[in-house]
Amino acid sequence: MNFEFATARQVAFGRGRLDLLGELVASYGDRALVVAGRHLQRSETLQRLEYQLQKRGVAAERVFATGEPEVAAVDETAARARALGSKVVVGIGGGSVLDLAKAASGLATNGGSVRDYLEGVGTGRALQKPALPLIAVPTTAGTGSEVTRNAVVSSREEGFKKSIRSPLLLPAVALVDPALTDSVPPAQTAASGLDALTQLIEPYVSLRAQPATDALALEGIRRAVKALPRAVEDGADRDARDDMALASLLGGLCLANAGLGAVHGIAAALGARFGIAHGVACASVLWQTMEANVEALETREASSPALERYATIGEALTGERFERSTDARAAGIAAAQSLVARLEIPRLGELGLAESSLAAVVKESRGSSMKSNPVVLTDAEIASILRAAL
Ligand SMILES: [Fe+2]
Repeated sequence: MNFEFATARQVAFGRGRLDLLGELVASYGDRALVVAGRHLQRSETLQRLEYQLQKRGVAAERVFATGEPEVAAVDETAARARALGSKVVVGIGGGSVLDLAKAASGLATNGGSVRDYLEGVGTGRALQKPALPLIAVPTTAGTGSEVTRNAVVSSREEGFKKSIRSPLLLPAVALVDPALTDSVPPAQTAASGLDALTQLIEPYVSLRAQPATDALALEGIRRAVKALPRAVEDGADRDARDDMALASLLGGLCLANAGLGAVHGIAAALGARFGIAHGVACASVLWQTMEANVEALETREASSPALERYATIGEALTGERFERSTDARAAGIAAAQSLVARLEIPRLGELGLAESSLAAVVKESRGSSMKSNPVVLTDAEIASILRAAL
């Protein structure tokens, strides 16, 4: 047994926790850059935060973000943090907003353009100095970015979507207040919730799976599979919202310490090439990838521990016990398929993917996530996953 587990310095979870934010920010210094989602611009959430900051004499500047962060947006946000002399950065919003805040907090102290640090496209530059302390406050339940060490940055011009990754990017504080997710509309709740579920399933079968993340993943899967349909169908169901916020946090803890797999490899390619939202991309290939992995393992690596793990996932997803592992695996795949169908995730064909682009998507799907998939999938296997999702 050989593993490492790292996370935010502090994790604070609970309904109403947002009221602690002012005090937390002030404990890091008297100048703060607040990076917030555009949808929060005139929100009570931000008003509450600003009142708290004023009361404590913290000078704060706001940056509003929309969409997935681009290289230029990260560079500008870091420059703002430096110009303000920020002692701390607050990121409050969905996964993309947290990623923008995270990348900017690292860049603010290390200098250069974020492009230099991006995997696969940059100059291979690594962060050397600690980032500005980041307080990450998610307003969606999905990405788990509040406890991960990477930020995804895109370039529409150059057509890439890549990560800046470093242990130095782990947020100082993950502050998860599920009340912030209560107003997320159903379609977005569904897509980000299925991202969270994927981020619990993939680390559990990952080549880098480890005991600490295993326990968290199973707990998260059991909660998410029950809570997600309820949160989508009745946004006011607080228990369901709480469980999904927790599942998202647990997924972040798992992926940051055990890696992901083929669903995320493929989703990265779908996002970069077709601009398909991350949660939708994950959801649309989830059960097909589970099925392809299981079949590939059964035919090529029948002694892999991942097979038994897929059976355990089947039991966690269905809440049932099975005599035979093959039955548990099949039930798990069927449960994932019916959940995605029930939540009305659009098919890839409706989102612009056609047979003629499959080869290119296959080629671009072999990024960092694919490396911890429990079995090496062939190009033909990845193409049939996509074909089944058209
Ligand atoms: Fe994800």
